[in-house]
Amino acid sequence: MYKIFDTTDEVSHYAAARLLGTIKAIPTAVLGLATGSTMVPVYAQLLRGLQQAAVDVSTVTTFNLDEYVGLSAGHAQSYHYYMYQHLFNELNIPAQNIHLPDGMASNLDEACQSYTDTIKIRGGLDFQLLGIGTNGHIGFNEPQTSFASRTHVVELTAQTRLDNSRFFADKHEMPTRAITLGILDILEAKEIVLVATGRNKADIMAELYHSEIDEALPASALKQHANLTIVLDREAASALPREAVEKKIASAPADFL
Ligand code: GLP
Repeated sequence: MYKIFDTTDEVSHYAAARLLGTIKAIPTAVLGLATGSTMVPVYAQLLRGLQQAAVDVSTVTTFNLDEYVGLSAGHAQSYHYYMYQHLFNELNIPAQNIHLPDGMASNLDEACQSYTDTIKIRGGLDFQLLGIGTNGHIGFNEPQTSFASRTHVVELTAQTRLDNSRFFADKHEMPTRAITLGILDILEAKEIVLVATGRNKADIMAELYHSEIDEALPASALKQHANLTIVLDREAASALPREAVEKKIASAPADFL
């Protein structure tokens, strides 16, 4: 299902409201969380919503999608740092309920296996929040990743390194490898919300709209999921066929309360 809103603010509000709805419905929810610039306003809105509705998150569990190999939790560009900065520092989710892949693990393969296992032990993901890379990656699952993949180490493509090096003051610090949840791990989430905003996502969203389910386009794996919502602003939807956009336009979401 597609939802298209006029503004990024409305998109972020909608995505945050979906997360909030899951937490309210399932106080012990297991949430799959994403990073990237798209999620900054989503988490800001989520914090606002949680506060307004006085929701307790002390029994929520989170698993992040991915992490760079070689960046410590304290590195300002690590996803660990990002998550605390934008979300966890403001919430009382117990530390033992917060999970991110360990990009500093001495045995990366073991760390990957244990990440997938821990999700299963915790009962699987109730909700997976996703962004998308300009090459169609989800998490850090780059084109041609097997749709049967579990958490694994990836070599980042030149396109991803170029896109993400904008966050690194010294471009040479941009890691070349990352750990990511596999595509099958993502597909096993009960509910998936993919968010894309801005004109730089228009081409990939059009490609995804028209694509068959094909490992060349990682996000196309999501088309086989029974509970997927793709949330776009007008800019990210600007290369979709006009009739499709008009049918999927949503009105601004009501406030959280
Ligand atoms: C990174 C992350 C993805 C994210 C993508 C988009 O590569 N690994 O999980 O979806 O970037 O990021 P942005 O929201 O900054 O465009």
